[in-house]
Amino acid sequence: MEQVKPYNSGASKKSEVEDMFDNIAPKYDLLNHVLSMKIDVAWRNNLVKWMKKDHVKEVLDVATGTGDLAIAIQKGTDAQVVGLDLSQQMLNVGVIKIKKLKLDGKISMQKGDAEGLPFEENRFDAVSVAFGVRNFENLTKGLAELKRVVKEGKSVYILEFSKVEGFLGPFYMFYFKNILPKIGKLVSKDNRAYSYLPDSVNAFPFGEKMKQILLDTGFSNVEYKKQSLGIATIYKATK
Ligand SMILES: C[S@@+](CC[C@H](N)C(=O)[O-])C[C@H]1O[C@@H](n2cnc3c(N)ncnc32)[C@H](O)[C@@H]1O
Repeated sequence: MEQVKPYNSGASKKSEVEDMFDNIAPKYDLLNHVLSMKIDVAWRNNLVKWMKKDHVKEVLDVATGTGDLAIAIQKGTDAQVVGLDLSQQMLNVGVIKIKKLKLDGKISMQKGDAEGLPFEENRFDAVSVAFGVRNFENLTKGLAELKRVVKEGKSVYILEFSKVEGFLGPFYMFYFKNILPKIGKLVSKDNRAYSYLPDSVNAFPFGEKMKQILLDTGFSNVEYKKQSLGIATIYKATK
């Protein structure tokens, strides 16, 4: 798989990704909701609806960023949630939001790396990642870690961008490659972050290919649901 990095500075993908999210953290939530016209909220809620069937008590949200999925999971399932992310600046924005919502007793946020999770095996009733796996430096290692910390018979839920197929594909791709990066650059003041987004999505596996990667990681069953004509996909991979 081609490795797409944010800045091509010569540093590792992991350190570039951490720097990029530290840079855009203050504007991340605003841009997310404007650029997706808030459909991202519906996608996270669909993941929570799916997860709710598992009657979860303790959930790990990896690449939690500013905590939107962690918050949606807590509200939707009443589970205790741990949010983990590489970027301290993203976590700082999340901590303020969580305090405002008075959810600080239910959600804890910590800095850490998905490719070396600081938790014992078989700990969580579910693990989630929204828009995170595409940024992992070593996808196979990250997915294996998600599998390691979820309980036997329980599931890892992954929400990630995919590609719109069919006649609407080129229209969406025009927006994604030409309009979105310009708005992103203007608001975030980061030259690359919002062109890295379509570049990294285009190089990332989705659908059957992603399902096969999850099966190769050792999950026993993988299902997926396309969201909004395939702009994004939710994968449920069961250990
Ligand atoms: C696009 S944001 C998604 C944030 C959040 N999940 C959401 O739905 O809005 C991707 C996040 O993944 C984090 N990330 C990337 N690689 C990571 C890794 N190896 N370990 C932990 N977090 C990582 C970044 O720091 C960033 O906050």
